[in-house]
Amino acid sequence: MSDENNPVRATGVSRRGFLKGIGLGTAATGLISAAAPVAEAATREPGLRGPGEVPVSLKVNGQNRNLNLEPRVTLLDALRNRLDLTGCKKVCDRGTCGACTVLVDGQPVYSCSMLVNEAEGRDITTVEGIGTPEKMNAVQRAFVEHDAQQCGFCTPGFVVACTAFVRKHPNASIEQVRAGLGGNLCRCGTYAGMLLAVSDAAKGGAV
Ligand code: FES
Ligand code: FES
Repeated sequence: MSDENNPVRATGVSRRGFLKGIGLGTAATGLISAAAPVAEAATREPGLRGPGEVPVSLKVNGQNRNLNLEPRVTLLDALRNRLDLTGCKKVCDRGTCGACTVLVDGQPVYSCSMLVNEAEGRDITTVEGIGTPEKMNAVQRAFVEHDAQQCGFCTPGFVVACTAFVRKHPNASIEQVRAGLGGNLCRCGTYAGMLLAVSDAAKGGAV
């Protein structure tokens, strides 16, 4: 899979780096108690924010949204729990399944693996900003036409990732599409429909 189609690599933040950043790296090695001193140190050092709530300004689907959040909050939780944008789904919550995919500056990103702090000042697009039931984009229309969903839980993440893919690879071959879907998992196994949908959307031009 190429880097631009890998949501974690697209952020420039590895999963290991993210876990270290939120203190889970230490938890995983049984050093949970180390988290409190680290948090206290964070409040003392200039330039670092938290651990309590701080003002956070996000640009989501073209709108500026001002929130107060603890810096440890993920972009996914901020979108779902504070902005009521529930299209992005929390499934694995560990950068594996892609159900939480959103676009950040046009790149597909696992929003469960990005802290809200890192998303400030960047252009965030959720599936709600990509199209609506009345005005679907080409990928959404093609998903409907090819019946590319069953339970639909993974579908929003696929639609977002596929939209980014089609924008970047307007004339993709079926093999490129197959590789492009590699950052998202569908347990229902609707890949055949999705491959056709993405190929059709790519042929259709602007997304
Ligand atoms: S919920 Fe984010 S990758 Fe699975
Ligand atoms: S449609 Fe069910 S997990 Fe993808």
